[in-house]
Amino acid sequence: MVKDISTVGVIGLGTMGAGIVEVFARGGLSVIGVETTSEYAERGRVILKASTDRAVAKGKLDDAGRQQILDRITISTAMADLAPADLVVEAVPETMDLKHAVFGELDAIVAPDAILASNTSSLSITQISAATAYPERVVGMHFFNPAPVLKLVEVITTLRTDPEVTTAVAGLADALGKKPVVVGDRAGFVVNYLLFGYLNSAMRMLEHGHVSREDLDTAMRVGAGLPMGPLTLMDLIGLDVCDHIGEVIYTHSRSPVHAPSAMLQQMVTAGRVGRKSGRGFYTYAKPGSGQVVPDDSTPEAGQASELESVGVIGTGVLADELVSRFTEGGYAVTRVDDATDLSLLADVGLVIEAQDLDNAHDGEGVDVDELFTQLGQVTTPGTILTTVNTYSAVALAALSGRQQETVVLRVHAPTGHGQVVEIGRTGVTAPQVLTALRSAVTAIGAEPVVCRDRTGLVVDALLVPHLVDAVRMVDQGYAAAGDVDTAIQHGLGYPMGPFAMIDHIGADEVLSVCEELLTGTDGFQAHLVPPALLVEHVLLDRPFTS
Ligand code: 3HC
Repeated sequence: MVKDISTVGVIGLGTMGAGIVEVFARGGLSVIGVETTSEYAERGRVILKASTDRAVAKGKLDDAGRQQILDRITISTAMADLAPADLVVEAVPETMDLKHAVFGELDAIVAPDAILASNTSSLSITQISAATAYPERVVGMHFFNPAPVLKLVEVITTLRTDPEVTTAVAGLADALGKKPVVVGDRAGFVVNYLLFGYLNSAMRMLEHGHVSREDLDTAMRVGAGLPMGPLTLMDLIGLDVCDHIGEVIYTHSRSPVHAPSAMLQQMVTAGRVGRKSGRGFYTYAKPGSGQVVPDDSTPEAGQASELESVGVIGTGVLADELVSRFTEGGYAVTRVDDATDLSLLADVGLVIEAQDLDNAHDGEGVDVDELFTQLGQVTTPGTILTTVNTYSAVALAALSGRQQETVVLRVHAPTGHGQVVEIGRTGVTAPQVLTALRSAVTAIGAEPVVCRDRTGLVVDALLVPHLVDAVRMVDQGYAAAGDVDTAIQHGLGYPMGPFAMIDHIGADEVLSVCEELLTGTDGFQAHLVPPALLVEHVLLDRPFTS
């Protein structure tokens, strides 16, 4: 019989442990936090103080309220002080030996009916539970960083976990205002398994020079609407932690998408482990700070562009919008409906082919290959030639003969963070063309992302496989779609879960981009093969969410 939980122990007061202490204390529980040394205990106090100070500064908590929270917390360096705990959550560094030492020691300290939980990011709870004489009371209780903010708690059960223990831990998480999701014991559980395929792919884009770090983060924060870009997020999690989680997941999946990144390993070895060390993908004002400061890789402020006139080809909704936004942005705009009056574009600085090819009726919409051949002939040398339709920049550059001035654009739908226009360049695109396009995109109120023209550019190439991975996880029976949505929305702060996103985008669109990525990406990529469940929903025209 599981007893009521009123006193909780937390072992390890790093970022996660201290955050977990705060969550319990805010929920009215007595908390005993244990660290190995008085220095680490002090570090835990500092994290707790900073977090509660932030809440006071924002007016979310008054001084008396903060004092009440702090009064519920005892910090100690003696494991024996955990004796009264009804539940102990372990948040020590991620090595199995250390976890075993902690769980083995706890048997002799806490009551036999106390619950033992691990906040491990990816290690096997089953394996951890082998160190205690009572594995039926062991469960995973996985919080997300920052623990006081993100609501998800993954409750991980093993084949031996007593169902009453699972119910008690999920009930406690619920009572604390968190969103518990109960899942089985598998590497990375739900969130990290899905997150780390995406983070690894993002990191590989940077490693391969596909896109700059700033543009990569802008693409996913603004273009996909995620709370932060992948590199900023990895700096927050800690690159050493990312490296470790990635390794555990790769050992389980053996998928190339999880294969360790040489760049990540080198950064960890060099001590560039993210915010906590003051340097990761970005440089921070000081260790522990989230304030980014300029460094050698920071792009210089863009020079003013001389581009003043824009030509838009097309009659559809996007063409209408581009015409009005460029006009509002101060550009002289010439619009042509089709190829019959291309000569009107002879002197414009930038041409945007924006025909609505998806909705074209018979006879409407001019063949884009033919159009670019003609544009190469009628426009003045130096004119920038672009299309918003899905074409290859290299192929169009070859047809127009304007090798240095032909690029592709992808105008994304606005998200809660703004709107992105991706600019897909070739290996020979002139730098001044990119500068001019960056200012043109900024002038219409969007954020530019420059990348090499590869299938899916940045946003689709990262987001679609991430969503498809979620479908595969459900197809494999590990978790239900509703639980995956709850987990991702509340564990990573996404505006909605992956299944809600698929329904929002359209499962048919997700499937078609996935198929394009499969054929357009070098080498066979098993993770890009569309799962049968996705195909099923498209063919039967059934949404994933109701
Ligand atoms: N501790 C406590 N509170 C914090 C905090 C911290 N470290 N950082 C931010 N906050 C609070 C702020 O006080 C603010 O609270 P309020 O809404 O009550 O005023 C709120 O969070 C929003 O903060 P900001 O306005 O300063 O900044 P943002 O709106 O940009 O939010 C963020 C910051 C909460 C970090 C948000 O960007 C986010 O959710 N990012 C995603 C983080 C994520 O994905 N975490 C999971 C990583 S994976 C993981 O942890 C698993 C592990 O196993 C690796």
